Amino acid sequence: MCGIVGYVGSRPALPVVVEGLRRMEYRGYDSAGIAVVTPDGVLNTAKKAGRIGNLDVELAGREITGNTGIGHTRWATHGAPNDRNAHPHLDAAGRIAVIHNGIIENFHELRAELERDGVELTSDTDTEIVAHLVAAVLREGGDDVVLAEAVRSVCRRLEGSFTLVFVDRDHPDSVVAARRNSPLVLGLGDGETFLGSSDVAFIEFTKRAVEIGQDQVVEITRDGYTLTDLHGNPAEGKPYAITWDLEAAEKGGYEYFMLKEIQEQPTAVGETLRSHFMDGRITLDEQRLDISVLREIDKVFVVGCGSAYHAGLLAKHAIEHWTRIPVEVEMASEFRYRDPVLDRQTLVIAISQSGETADTLEAVRHAKDQRATVLAICNTNGAQIPREADAVLYTHAGPEIGVAATKTFTAQVAAVLIVGLALAQARGTKYGDEIAAEFAALEAMPDLIRQTLERVEDVRRIAREIANAKAILFLGRHVGYPVALEGALKLKELAYMHAEGFPAGELKHGPIALVEQDLPVVVVMPDPTGRPLLHQKMLSNIAEISARGARTIVIATEGDELAAKHAAHLIELPFSPTLLSPLLSAIPMQVLAAEIAQARGFDVDKPRNLAKSVTVE
Ligand code: F6R
Repeated sequence: MCGIVGYVGSRPALPVVVEGLRRMEYRGYDSAGIAVVTPDGVLNTAKKAGRIGNLDVELAGREITGNTGIGHTRWATHGAPNDRNAHPHLDAAGRIAVIHNGIIENFHELRAELERDGVELTSDTDTEIVAHLVAAVLREGGDDVVLAEAVRSVCRRLEGSFTLVFVDRDHPDSVVAARRNSPLVLGLGDGETFLGSSDVAFIEFTKRAVEIGQDQVVEITRDGYTLTDLHGNPAEGKPYAITWDLEAAEKGGYEYFMLKEIQEQPTAVGETLRSHFMDGRITLDEQRLDISVLREIDKVFVVGCGSAYHAGLLAKHAIEHWTRIPVEVEMASEFRYRDPVLDRQTLVIAISQSGETADTLEAVRHAKDQRATVLAICNTNGAQIPREADAVLYTHAGPEIGVAATKTFTAQVAAVLIVGLALAQARGTKYGDEIAAEFAALEAMPDLIRQTLERVEDVRRIAREIANAKAILFLGRHVGYPVALEGALKLKELAYMHAEGFPAGELKHGPIALVEQDLPVVVVMPDPTGRPLLHQKMLSNIAEISARGARTIVIATEGDELAAKHAAHLIELPFSPTLLSPLLSAIPMQVLAAEIAQARGFDVDKPRNLAKSVTVE
């Protein structure tokens, strides 16, 4: 939530900052703003509610020079999404400009303190107070206090989560930033240094990046950076190389990022698999725990939100099947509030593409407080969740700019399958050759995903036919149920349509009352050979809803003649083993939602009210 960019170098800062914001607009699009400082100490700012296009209009015709700048794209928390609350915010003298991602929880006390001191606040945000507090420290300290010192002193008083980035018109050659529970990475160029909520902000200029740690303050200049903790002690960042190209962060001829990201799934899944199986053994990326810990696990919890939660539901099937360890799956936002039974022998698997979802992060912290072991599945280097976990498996989906999860979801599904096999390997519940055989089946999936993508024209046609429906239901059983939930979620978030996913057997216990003439119902069929009993039950469910007038859209394995006979519309998938089949059946769900959203005239990449990473609970 909220995207942040910072730059110091020899280029004009404005285009670097605005371009960085454009790349990160998926993080929030309630407003956008910039601050640029000229070498002779003039602080120029511009900000506008709405998308970056509005800021472009605001900037048109203005000459803003200067090689030091910051920029912000907002997902509103405190204060309505209007011009007044847009970032950057300034202190009363207009010396300091600050941008912020996160929430300052003791904002009310701090605001009251400033008001008592006669400070006039010009916005409703929790951010503006920081500008005034930092300015006060600078004023009181005189020449002895520099911006970084003032920022450290104010940050020690702040509670909550923040990435804060500042420019000071009196020191035009540097940008200062601080972070707690909110992402911040820096990019090192030749004679220029960048900051971003994500490396997407500066991928065009450098692939050398550094993760900024928890409660650290960084000052960047064109020659590099100085990193300290909140007390001024030298600190170390974690350098890493960005492994993807600018192309990955561009639309590449597609109308929407989401459409491109759907097509990138063979690579996203393939890369995730390739990097975790070496010399006949499954490997994790970071393992800060002894293998004996995994051997002694007697219970697994999987936590995540939205699509990541759906990947978690699939993890249950794989892990229980391959290891016989009981698995519970829980929405991360519910987990810590109901006192789950956790101990040293519990493994908590936290799934989060961004690695910064506040609900999931708090679930991780709760698990660790209870001495459980935490394994994170994440798509983003430098994010907080993998930093706090005992072990990490990175999905290698590359940056996902479309707000709705597509390639990161299928990469998460691949990842939970890898984790299932890793646990089976650690615990010896499967022989090495059995694991290798399961992995070989997994390695065939990118090609089957490619074949599935080649056939989506039918899905598009059906989508256009049902685009004006009032509601759509999604049904599945076994691994088809999480896919049904994912289909309904995609449709809600992109097409703003009422959509529900149900286990097909549950339908007759109430939801069947929703079925009326012509209601589109998407049904995920199991493979008739792999799961004959389930297949038979699903056919009965299709018959029940068809008899009540539903228009069935059946996703089935090719050659499934019975499904074809019962379906009003048929979407065929190549054959795949049951546990792996969601990697294919999720794809028509994504295409259906994207196409319906387009047909209804909505922005597929930036659905209303949403942001890509949700850093508030
Ligand atoms: C759905 C979607 C969201 C995310 C959820 C978790 O398309 O994108 O439901 O899956 O907000 O996000 P991460 O995985 O970043 O924790």
